[in-house]
Amino acid sequence: MENETDPSMFASHGEFLKPEISNTVQIRPKILYFGTPVVLIATADGRGNVDLAPMSSAWALGNTVVLGLSVLGKTLENLKATGECMLNFPDQTLWKNVEKLAPLTGKNPVPFQKMGTFRYESDKFSAASLHPVPSEVVKPPRVKECEIQMECNVRNIYKMSEQDGQLAAIVEVNVIAVYANKKVILDDTHVNVKEWKPLIYSFRHYFTLGDELGKSFRSET
Ligand SMILES: Cc1cc2nc3c(=O)[nH]c(=O)nc-3n(C[C@H](O)[C@H](O)[C@H](O)COP(=O)(O)O)c2cc1C
Repeated sequence: MENETDPSMFASHGEFLKPEISNTVQIRPKILYFGTPVVLIATADGRGNVDLAPMSSAWALGNTVVLGLSVLGKTLENLKATGECMLNFPDQTLWKNVEKLAPLTGKNPVPFQKMGTFRYESDKFSAASLHPVPSEVVKPPRVKECEIQMECNVRNIYKMSEQDGQLAAIVEVNVIAVYANKKVILDDTHVNVKEWKPLIYSFRHYFTLGDELGKSFRSET
C-alpha cells in the first residue's frame, strides 16, 4: 500500500503520533544553543580594566537587549560594578578571533569550576588579534573589526533559577547608541541585510546566514 510507513497519514488534529512510528524521538542534548548570533561584550571594572567575552544568549526587543550570563564570569562582575557595556557583533570572517577568546576569562584567579578548561587573560583584545576603539558615552571600547556595535547601560539584573548547579543572571540593557560600518547600511535607519553576515553559534559550531528566503510584511527595505 502506498505510504504504508508514513505516520503523517494517521495524524489528524489533536492526535499524537506514536513515537515508535514517528521520525521524531525524544533526545537529551547536552546544550540547548539552538543558533543565535555571537556578541563580543566589552566591559570594564571600576579601575578601567577592560574585558572582552564572547556570548550568544542575547536577544533584542525595542531598545532593550537581554543577555544571559554566567555568574562565574568577569563580564557579569563588571556589569554589576559599572553598569555599562559595548555589544560588538562579529561577522562571519571573525569566527577564528572569537574562538581565540573562547578558553579565556578575565577572572583572576580562575573560578574553580572553570579550572583546567579556561585560563586567565588580562588583554583579551591582543589575545584575539582584535583592536579597541574608544566609545562615545560608555567606558568599554568598541571592537574595530565588528561592523555593528551598540553602546549600552544596564537597566536590571535578575537572578536566574539555579539548574544543575549552574548559576546565571539575566541582564537587561538599554541601547543608547548604535554604530555600523557604512558597508552594511542602506541609510541611518536601515541595515543592509544583503551585506550583513552575522556570526551564528549553533550547538557550539559557527555558521553565518544563507541566502535570503523572503521578508516580513513590516520590512521597509
Ligand atoms: C561563541 C560563544 C558563546 C558564548 N555564549 C555565552 C553566553 O551567552 N553566556 C555566558 O555566560 N557565556 C557564554 N560563553 C562562555 C564565555 O565566553 C566564557 O565563560 C568566558 O570565560 C567569559 O569570560 P569572562 O569571565 O572574561 O567574562 C560563550 C562562549 C563562546 C565561545
